[in-house]
Amino acid sequence: MTERVVVVTGGMGGIGTAVCKRLAQAGHRVAANCLPGYPRKDEWLAGMRSAGFEAVIGVEADVTDLDACKGMGEAIRTRLGPVDILVNCAGITRDATFRKMGLDEWLAVINSNLNATYNVTKQFIDGMTERGWGRVISLSSVNGTRGQFGQTNYSAAKAGIAGFTRALAQEVVRKGVTVNCVSPGYVETDMVRAIRPDVLAGIVESIPIGRLARPDEIASLVAFLASDEAAYITGANIPINGGLHMA
Ligand code: CAA
Repeated sequence: MTERVVVVTGGMGGIGTAVCKRLAQAGHRVAANCLPGYPRKDEWLAGMRSAGFEAVIGVEADVTDLDACKGMGEAIRTRLGPVDILVNCAGITRDATFRKMGLDEWLAVINSNLNATYNVTKQFIDGMTERGWGRVISLSSVNGTRGQFGQTNYSAAKAGIAGFTRALAQEVVRKGVTVNCVSPGYVETDMVRAIRPDVLAGIVESIPIGRLARPDEIASLVAFLASDEAAYITGANIPINGGLHMA
């Protein structure tokens, strides 16, 4: 197994944490991105150390800020070396029906999910193509594929990530770089726990498998896409949703 350098944006969140652990377990050196001043950063890093994940570092940057992403790219290259695997995991929700949604809620979600994908991928894609190997894996969502009541902003951003993936995949496929996204359904994370309990209960009831996904189930799929074995998969948007939506 070749040791690679990985960056996971939103790396200290629900899915991000599981992805960091899984890729560290695979023998890679991992940079977990978080927002500047993220209150649980030290506790998170200590937790990783005590769980035996010594090769994980924390890197602060607001992924909605292009200059901050440039700084993050330089910091990771200095501390760990050139980045081979990028997991675009950072994102937020600001759910409201479209009639009630303000421009601030629209922009916050488009910036943190979709524009951040530009800001961060831009820092690493040239290095990957120059070295002839790379993986870009972005978190889309079932709700980017099927739409979701109360999520015009999030559904638009996540659908945008899938389109970005298909276009970039074509541009870099001959350079040894694959570009894919995964579309989880509802996962046991703070983002899903924030849904009103009665609404969430209805959602869980509608999932054919009858439960939420565990973050490690999403991380296993991401780890496979990051591996050498997945070299022939590119431009894909892989659903992982317990049967909630079957295309
Ligand atoms: N389809 C059609 N109509 C619906 C509906 C649906 N799915 N859900 C609610 N409605 C109707 C209601 O029946 C109600 O109708 P009446 O006014 O006639 O009674 C009306 O719409 C208002 O419903 P709410 O009470 O839900 O409205 P609200 O303004 O209080 O709440 C909301 C709106 C915040 C968007 C809430 O509906 C909600 O939280 N929905 C869930 C959104 C969701 O799934 N978010 C996912 C977050 S996690 C994530 O995004 C991760 C991922 O990738 C999956």
